[in-house]
Amino acid sequence: MTDYLKKFVLKGKKAVVAGGAGLIGREVVIALAQAGADVVIADTNITAGKKLVKGLVRSKGKVTFVTFDISQMDDMKGHVAAVVKNLKGIDVWVNCAYPRTADWGVLPEQVSAQSWRQNVDDQLSATALCCTTVADHMKKKGGTIINLGSIYGIGGGKFDIYNGTAVKPVPIIYSVVKGGIVNLSRYLASYYGCYNIRVNTVCPGGVADGQDPKFVKQYAGQTPLGRMARSEEIASTVLFLASDAASYISGATVMVDGGWTAV
Ligand SMILES: NC(=O)c1ccc[n+]([C@@H]2O[C@H](COP(=O)([O-])OP(=O)(O)OC[C@H]3O[C@@H](n4cnc5c(N)ncnc54)[C@H](O)[C@@H]3O)[C@@H](O)[C@H]2O)c1
Repeated sequence: MTDYLKKFVLKGKKAVVAGGAGLIGREVVIALAQAGADVVIADTNITAGKKLVKGLVRSKGKVTFVTFDISQMDDMKGHVAAVVKNLKGIDVWVNCAYPRTADWGVLPEQVSAQSWRQNVDDQLSATALCCTTVADHMKKKGGTIINLGSIYGIGGGKFDIYNGTAVKPVPIIYSVVKGGIVNLSRYLASYYGCYNIRVNTVCPGGVADGQDPKFVKQYAGQTPLGRMARSEEIASTVLFLASDAASYISGATVMVDGGWTAV
């Protein structure tokens, strides 16, 4: 008989969470480490990354931190190789890093050419280059890559939910980048499937993080489940996709949005 629970166990697996010190990334780190994987938090935020490591010394899997800047595209090979060497292998790579320019969040009419270039480079091209570099390391024995998309990579924004709140409307670049991430994962799944490398996108809805209560109410009103997401709900989906329980899932776009995109 198949032992289904065993499929979720990541004992002996080596995992990297780029952006693992962030709101969603940290929960992904906790989930993977609880499942038994050795996890590297690869992030630019040294203070938050090291603090998270300290809090997870009793996890099943060993958790460590490395400084990793995904936007350093010119030396992606060197940076990824250093992380993989340190871990002594790579089975799971999760991209939760989200670099932003200083003008992040301005209205579509105000986005400069420079801002378009920089953000698309840092958020989309860098993720793509990171994925192909990581996949090279996975070619011998397979592996899985999980990219973070968004509901805004599937559809445009619902702008009225921002009315009268302190929250800035979703920026145009965000939608463009996240749409690209969804199809990036599909391309990679198709290209690297022959190496037993699975690539998927997890698309969260907005995660509750102390936003303006009026915004939370207006956002919640748009979702069938009537609330914002919790970062643990995104992490458990990533854990599933990282595990053997998802061994036949590749190229998928998994919505974790309380039904936002269903209506
Ligand atoms: N929070 C949400 O509501 C939400 C909703 C949908 C999708 N997402 C997506 O989920 C992912 C994670 O979002 P989050 O809310 O945890 O973001 P966050 O800002 O809390 O975390 C991002 C992490 O990336 C790190 N980072 C920034 N620049 C980096 C770089 N150049 N190299 C490496 N690390 C870098 C930051 O230090 C931070 O730890 C993003 O792709 C985001 O678009 C988030």
